[in-house]
Amino acid sequence: MEETIKKVMLTGDRPTGRLHIGHYVGSLRRRVELQNEGGFDEMFIMIADTQALTDNAGNPQKVRDNVIEVALDYLSAGIDPSKVTIFVQSRVPQLFEFTSYFMDLVTYSRLIRNPTIKSELDMRGFGESIPTGFLTYPISQASDILMFGTTIVPAGEDQMPMVEQAQEIAHKFNALYGEVFVEPKIMLPETEASRRLPGTDGKAKMSKSLGNCIYLSDDAKTVEKKVMSMFTDPTHLTITDPGHTEGNPVFIYLEAFAKDEHFAKYLPEYKNLDELKAHYERGGLGDVTVKRFLAKVLNDTLDPIRARRHELEKDIAGVYKILEEGSAKAREKAESIAIRARRAMGLNYFENRKLIEKQQKAYNKEHEAAAKLAAYLAQSKK
Ligand code: TRP
Repeated sequence: MEETIKKVMLTGDRPTGRLHIGHYVGSLRRRVELQNEGGFDEMFIMIADTQALTDNAGNPQKVRDNVIEVALDYLSAGIDPSKVTIFVQSRVPQLFEFTSYFMDLVTYSRLIRNPTIKSELDMRGFGESIPTGFLTYPISQASDILMFGTTIVPAGEDQMPMVEQAQEIAHKFNALYGEVFVEPKIMLPETEASRRLPGTDGKAKMSKSLGNCIYLSDDAKTVEKKVMSMFTDPTHLTITDPGHTEGNPVFIYLEAFAKDEHFAKYLPEYKNLDELKAHYERGGLGDVTVKRFLAKVLNDTLDPIRARRHELEKDIAGVYKILEEGSAKAREKAESIAIRARRAMGLNYFENRKLIEKQQKAYNKEHEAAAKLAAYLAQSKK
């Protein structure tokens, strides 16, 4: 009987800080939708502590402390642990076992061609002193993906090279040892605005080190303050000036968050974002009006998330319990695939009865031949 391929979703985040609204629109919001649509047989979300350590070896406390923060962010954003297995990467040893085997299938030149690795290297200025674990994390990430039989990886564009690496490894492994791994596909965010949210300062990316993030756990006042000081169109000097909405972070955020209901509720002079944009571009609409609106839209979206976080923060042990149980479930799943993969590679030393018997027979034959020779020699001496 042909085994039907299960629909399996897996994605994850490095625990290096609390999650921000860029994570939310880029991935987290979609995960919650996918969870609620129920189209997957199995769903996994991984807190990638081992990957976080690849460039934080000197600061394990930061990684440790952020595991619970990321878990709180997931749960408060609406991830339901009865539908999604949330687990901690380092608690699943099978991932590292297969990272070792997968390393044998990837060349050094292939690794350093990885565009995400390339740009991260430039950004961090590692040069030759790059930790080996950092250079090879795409292989480890391929293991994260492949060891769960993942069919879909919902993630941002920057994760495309990682998914491609996983596809290549699956293909190579299957060709060498037999069909074990599924080639995964990436699921990119749906709207352009969700693909990459710029920082509040207008820089291309929201990043903790740049201090240009709005966090899911920021309180309403903080969100308002951050929005009011956001970078907008630098050519829009007075209200009457025509403004640019393209590349304007305030409008990019609105694109990602504002719904028509928000207009009805807070800015009824406009039906929707198109009308607001048209006015801004014509001139006569001030940045303050637009920013005040954005702050309300964001706070509307974040209110229920903050409320849930507040409740969860009262039971930190309970949240760790969720991670512990999720990690046990993840180990079980990874081991079921590991068993098949080890078998395909012939590493199942203790269970392959046929091979053990064959080896025994070969030795028996040798011993018999030696005994015969010895008997013959003893005979001819007489
Ligand atoms: N590289 C991802 C990030 O930086 C985190 C991650 C680790 C991941 N393993 C994964 C994402 C597997 C998707 C699938 O956010």
